[in-house]
Parts: sequence; C-alpha cells; structure tokens
Amino acid sequence: MSHGNEVQRYAANERWNHWLTAITFVLLAASGLAFFHPTFWSLSAVLGGGELSRMLHPIIGVVMFVSFMIFAIQKFSDNVMRSYDWKWLGQIGDVLANRDDRLPAVGKYNAGQKLAYWAMLLTMLALMVSGIIIWRQYFSHMFAIDTLRLAALVHAVAGALLIITIIVHVYAAIWVKGTIGAMTKGTVSRAWAKHHHPLWYQSIDKR
Ligand code: HEM
Repeated sequence: MSHGNEVQRYAANERWNHWLTAITFVLLAASGLAFFHPTFWSLSAVLGGGELSRMLHPIIGVVMFVSFMIFAIQKFSDNVMRSYDWKWLGQIGDVLANRDDRLPAVGKYNAGQKLAYWAMLLTMLALMVSGIIIWRQYFSHMFAIDTLRLAALVHAVAGALLIITIIVHVYAAIWVKGTIGAMTKGTVSRAWAKHHHPLWYQSIDKR
C-alpha cells in the first residue's frame, strides 16, 4: 500500500503489538535487574517495590512472550537468511562506514536485523521455559533443586543477552534515519525503502 511519497511498512495492529512488547520488556528488564543484583534494587520501584515486582514480573513475562510470539510468527519468513544477507554481513565494515553503495541489495530486513530477530526469538523461548520452571507461585515445587538452579542460570543469561540485543536494536533504529517512523506512523519514505531495502521496495512497488 502506498500514500504518495510514503509506503506502508507496518499495519496498526502490528505497531500496537510491537509497543506492547517494548513496554513489557522495559518493565521486565528493570524488575529482573533488581532481582539480579542489589546495585539495581532501586529499579524495583518501576513495578511498585519488591513484593509487587515478584508477583507481577512473571505475569508480565507471559504477556511479553505472547505479544512477541504473535509478531515474530508474522515476521518469520521475512527473517530467513538469504545468500545476499551473508554477503552483506561479510561487508560489515562497509555498513559501519556508511558505504551503502557497495552493499548487496537486501529485502524487508538486513542481516543485522535478521540476526537480532533470531537472538530475540531464542532468548524469549529460553526465558519462557526457564521462567515457568522457577515460578514459585505455581510451578517450582514440581522440579528438583538442580533443575531450578540450572533454570535460574539460563533465565539470567538469556535475560542479559536479550537486554544487549534490545540496546543494539534501539540504537540501530535511531542510527538509520527515517526508521522510527515505520513503527510510529507505520510508513517510510520511498527514498528510505529504495535505499535501505531495495528488494522489498521492488516487491511492493509491483503491487
Ligand atoms: C524499546 C524500544 C524499541 C524501539 C525504539 C524499537 C523500534 C523498532 C523499529 C523502529 C522497528 C522497525 C524497523 C524496520 O522496519 O526496519 C522495529 C522492529 C522490530 N522490533 Fe523493535 N523497538 C523497541 C523494542 C523492541 C523489543 C523489546 C522487541 C522484542 C523483544 C522488539 C522487536 C522487534 C522486531 C522483531 C522487529 C521487526 C524486525 C525484524 O523482524 O527483523 N523491539 N523496532
């Protein structure tokens, strides 16, 4: 769909869902860091203090997981790595130095975005499975202590990796000018689409 000089990149329901994932992520990262180390304890205020954080963190975790999975399933085929993506990745020096003219044409997402997608998907799955195991209220009594310890470790490592991935994701969204609008108003300029995602632009231009 196009609107004059702009082309549609995300529908309204996709944007609402993405921002639900983003808001729940911030609440979970803050409360999770507060549980992880006393240095971050003040962050528990985000969910109303220690007791409320312990109660709400797992519930909000389920909301983030479901909302992310709906979006991730919708975007699955757009994130499969193609031969030109590996070539793009091999030229990461050109990407970082803004020598875009030397880069191979890519589809709806570039290889950096695709790898971030897979990192998000894998860490989300690890967080959900390990989170259920260590959920005191309902499930943890069903597991042996060694399983609980392993799950707690997996939960912390996956959480840290997801936080790092999201920092890179947000930085890249701001760094590539004209990208944030894709997730706020749902559209990008034709020039942005042609320049950054030429194969995607060709495919929507034909519609
Ligand atoms: C917190 C602030 C966040 C900002 C500012 C932000 C911004 C954006 C923007 C601008 C896009 C569109 C990129 C494009 O179409 O090229 C996008 C896409 C996306 N975002 Fe976020 N995001 C945030 C948080 C998150 C979180 C917490 C997650 C998941 C845990 C997430 C997952 C995704 C995914 C999966 C895509 C589609 C890219 C792909 O499928 O490869 N975002 N985001």
